[in-house]
Amino acid sequence: MRKAKIMVVDDEHLIRWSLEQNLMKQGYEVLTAGNGEDALKLVREEQPELVLLDIHMPGISGLEVLEKVKEFDDEIIVIMVTAHGGLETAVNAMRMGAYDYINKPFNLDEMGIVIKKALENFDLRREVAGLRSEHKKVGSPTIVGKGKLMQHVLSMMERVAKSEASTVLVQGESGTGKELVAKWIHYESSRADKPFVAINCAAVPSTLLESELFGYDKGAFTDAKAMKKGLFELADGGTVFLDEIGDMELGMQAKLLRFLEDRTFRRVGGSKVISVDVRIISATNKDLLKAVEEKSFRNDLYYRLQVIPIFLPPLRERKEDIVILANHFIESFNKEFNKKIKGLSAGAEQMLTDYSWPGNIRELKNVIERAIILGGEDTLMLEHLPLEIVAQSAAPAPGQSTVFQLPPEGVDIEEVEKELIRQALEVSDGNQSKAAKKLSLGIDAFRYRMKKFGYLK
Ligand SMILES: Nc1ncnc2c1ncn2[C@@H]1O[C@H](COP(=O)(O)OP(=O)(O)OP(=O)(O)O)[C@@H](O)[C@H]1O
Ligand SMILES: [Mg+2]
Repeated sequence: MRKAKIMVVDDEHLIRWSLEQNLMKQGYEVLTAGNGEDALKLVREEQPELVLLDIHMPGISGLEVLEKVKEFDDEIIVIMVTAHGGLETAVNAMRMGAYDYINKPFNLDEMGIVIKKALENFDLRREVAGLRSEHKKVGSPTIVGKGKLMQHVLSMMERVAKSEASTVLVQGESGTGKELVAKWIHYESSRADKPFVAINCAAVPSTLLESELFGYDKGAFTDAKAMKKGLFELADGGTVFLDEIGDMELGMQAKLLRFLEDRTFRRVGGSKVISVDVRIISATNKDLLKAVEEKSFRNDLYYRLQVIPIFLPPLRERKEDIVILANHFIESFNKEFNKKIKGLSAGAEQMLTDYSWPGNIRELKNVIERAIILGGEDTLMLEHLPLEIVAQSAAPAPGQSTVFQLPPEGVDIEEVEKELIRQALEVSDGNQSKAAKKLSLGIDAFRYRMKKFGYLK
């Protein structure tokens, strides 16, 4: 679980101390400031998610601090702490964007509940909006891929990251790593210490999308009680990832196009022209050209977005990477689950390679996670793989005969039988009854042949 960061601002030492102790016990990370100036400095440096703010302090007042905090980052939740009788000020604070207020003297349990609820609401809002933002550099993610196709993609990504290119379009089926690629480009670029902000255009209703991207001014609509910065403004200097751009509605497409032309915009309900420097990486699993033909995607926007196009191949077209990726995931889940799995059995490797992976790398990652949880101790075997993988791999490819095709030069039937027994044992990880089933033999008949060919003494 992520630890939320809370800042306590109060000029009374005792209150700071008791809140700090109490909140730390509840598992939060706590910062404290004894005056408004220190508070604002800390907000900039540490970007807490929530601020408990005393209204009456010598020097800069709580209300002024609130205003500055909201200007810096509207997403920070501010809860005002007020002395009895300060209702009017508290209401004022709410108008200025405070989330709630608590009267002094307060009850610590009650305080805990208000904080917990506020943080939950906040997470929910982000989830609903399909919004994920990262303020801090977490380092570029590892991208695994040895095959030719991926090497080509990787060298393209490297060039893009170092370049000034301001729009990149990543296309690929679901689960091929589009978001990972976007993050990699961001963290390998000179923009790495600025925000990487992602939004899922399909998850946000069109009307909301506009204000998420461009922000709004106070009074733009009934609920707009305070100015709110949009993603383009928040990500200034960094990268905005527009996921599932193919699902963006036509009206919004026109607005985005206008923005892309000179990177300027107005907040919803605002008049000031704001100019930002952001790299736009968009992604889609749809065939955008087809959408253009069908007139559900603007032609001009398509050409502007795909100045630099990156195509991520489906996993079935880069089979040489399957085992490498699987081992990469085994290593990372070993760490996560505290296991010591060494790798895959030959049979399991074969099955994974043969499978068609409609869900691509995400599906492979899930399969490995499941296999590890389900009980591999040393090596992941066939029995740890889901049925659909084993079943599909065993089925013949379309158009291919289920029975053996006699080569023109003929065969040595004993050799064929011996080889089939060997392969059946291999894909069954040496499990004789499974291997027998693969050849539609009873266990005795199978063992008889194992002996005959020297697999069994
Ligand atoms: N080359 C890679 N190396 C290591 N991990 C990868 C690679 N590509 C993808 N992954 C992992 O696979 C999962 C899916 O990747 P990601 O979310 O980037 O896919 P996506 O193309 O955005 O999928 P969707 O279209 O469904 O949103 C993630 O957990 C990601 O970390
Ligand atoms: Mg994605």
